[in-house]
Amino acid sequence: MKEETLLVRDNRTGKTYDLPLFKGTVRAMDFRQIKTDPEDFGLMTYDPAFMNTASTMSSITFIDGDKGILRYRGYPIEELAETCSFLDVAYLLLFGELPPAEESREWADKVNHHTMIHENLKKFMEGFRHDAHPMGMFVSTVSALSTFYPEARDVKNKQARKIQILRLIGKVPTIAAYAYRHSLGLPYVYPDNAFGYTENFLNMLWRMTETRYKPNPVLASALDVLFILHADHEQNCSANTMRCVGSAHADPYLSLAAAAAALAGPLHGGANEEVLRMLDEIGTVSGVPAFVEKVKRGECKLMGFGHRVYKNYDPRARIVKQTAEEVFKVTGVNPKLEIAMELERIALRDEYFTRRKLYPNVDFYSGIIYQAMGFSPDMFTVLFAIPRTVGWLAQWQELLDDPEQKIARPRQIFTGQALRHVATPAPEKVPVAVA
Ligand code: CMC
Repeated sequence: MKEETLLVRDNRTGKTYDLPLFKGTVRAMDFRQIKTDPEDFGLMTYDPAFMNTASTMSSITFIDGDKGILRYRGYPIEELAETCSFLDVAYLLLFGELPPAEESREWADKVNHHTMIHENLKKFMEGFRHDAHPMGMFVSTVSALSTFYPEARDVKNKQARKIQILRLIGKVPTIAAYAYRHSLGLPYVYPDNAFGYTENFLNMLWRMTETRYKPNPVLASALDVLFILHADHEQNCSANTMRCVGSAHADPYLSLAAAAAALAGPLHGGANEEVLRMLDEIGTVSGVPAFVEKVKRGECKLMGFGHRVYKNYDPRARIVKQTAEEVFKVTGVNPKLEIAMELERIALRDEYFTRRKLYPNVDFYSGIIYQAMGFSPDMFTVLFAIPRTVGWLAQWQELLDDPEQKIARPRQIFTGQALRHVATPAPEKVPVAVA
């Protein structure tokens, strides 16, 4: 097949360049040969917020934003949510295939083996104020893990890397549950490996004085589905942070803490918390039209709507909505649901939203489920961070194994002062006092 190329003519010099194309993409470095003279640095591309720049090749997650398609390693998200456990999906994201039954059991055992955290880390968490935001606690505690596992710095050692991956997947629910119990002043509950991954998390969250906690199977399975939906989403802000910090060969705990910090932002994973605050502000179904007008006047955003990549219904939002029905059968309907559905109904008919292709994203309905389950809004983003840990680690691993990757270091277009000098005579220097 004939190689596809891009013919570029530089009108400054009249020269033409035939640049190779690969999968509909041109390599930014190929522009560097385009110069006005040998001293010229060469042509750069300018792309604030990476609107049109691929920073990596990746075989983990595929999204077609126009069609509303999401696949992990080729499998549609709908099929994975319907038929697989979260831990099997984690295995798929990390290693490329769904595990056969025996491997699946072994993998779950290995993760379970790492659910405990060091007592000193527990004490570290006890040091937070009672009203500390759980996401701040999560980020700080994950980064503190780095001090417990100094061997994690050897990021090129694939064997050591695997152990850190198991530790992180095993420990994030424990840290999240401790953050939750801390905010309520409840004693921390140790992990119980007789439970599966999600049930164990529920046990650490909600066990009180009973000798044996019995997780509600509907809630456990709903949470497992939500974990699958949140496990990875290719090169989003936090995955990009994981890769950026990881590219400097920081250890995975520090890189993951940085990624979780990015997730905490209200434009990213923090949106689920903001959706609930927005629904509170709206108050009743009758308040929806006035709120939508406020959004259209640009006074605020409709949180849980819009996406950089999806210009169609986010497929995760559809599954979250179905999952909500299951959860509400157990918990009773969250009264916020009516307001959310009215918001969606009005927005999807309004020209402001349709012209901009703004649809509900994963965060629009997830908070309503979490609240019905008994979580306060400040826990919502932590519930996102637990499964996303898997995605971050898969992205990190792929980065480290990619021979084309180097330390991430964008260029800039300097717009500051040209060279200038301090006015002479220089301001008098104060003599250093001699004792
Ligand atoms: N409400 C009202 N207007 C919006 C919204 C919204 N939620 N999102 C985008 N717009 C408007 C925006 O003002 C702009 O209008 P105009 O063309 O007149 O200037 C247009 O739509 C395009 O928006 P953008 O800001 O260029 O889009 P982006 O790709 O840079 O931002 C986004 C994507 C997700 C940050 C944004 O849609 C947003 O802030 N949404 C609300 C926060 C949210 O729900 N975030 C969760 C995202 S999904 C899960 C995750 O990533 O964690």
